[in-house]
Amino acid sequence: MRKLVGSGIVFLAVIFGSCSKSSDSGNLYTPTSVDTTASATLSELQQGRTLYVNNCGTCHKLYSPDSYSSTQWKSIMNSMAPKTSMTNSQDTLVLKYVTRGKL
Ligand code: HEC
Repeated sequence: MRKLVGSGIVFLAVIFGSCSKSSDSGNLYTPTSVDTTASATLSELQQGRTLYVNNCGTCHKLYSPDSYSSTQWKSIMNSMAPKTSMTNSQDTLVLKYVTRGKL
């Protein structure tokens, strides 16, 4: 039984690890239609997630969107976005993703 549980965990790790190049992106929610808000469409949230994973995990781990409030994310993006080569409109998509469409 213990052996079975162990191989299950390895199996899950392989699945999550293969989803993207960053091994800790399994903590990041994948947007679905329930996450859309008046200020964020599903497509915007999905693009924001991809941009976040590809641009924000190079210097440190990818922080979970739930670790900070929307207000905190706004100031974090003000200091972090200039460290990437993203355009202003791409920054906005990342902000929409990490705040779950609240901004
Ligand atoms: C060039 C390297 C670099 C890139 C690229 C980068 N960061 Fe950071 N980030 C840092 C450093 C260094 C720190 C820790 C020191 C600090 O807070 O300034 C940090 C800290 C953070 C923190 C923790 C802040 C806190 O107060 O707890 C968050 C969240 C964060 N970054 C998010 C992002 C996001 C989102 C992006 C993409 C837009 C990003 N980072 C891209 C270097 C980077």
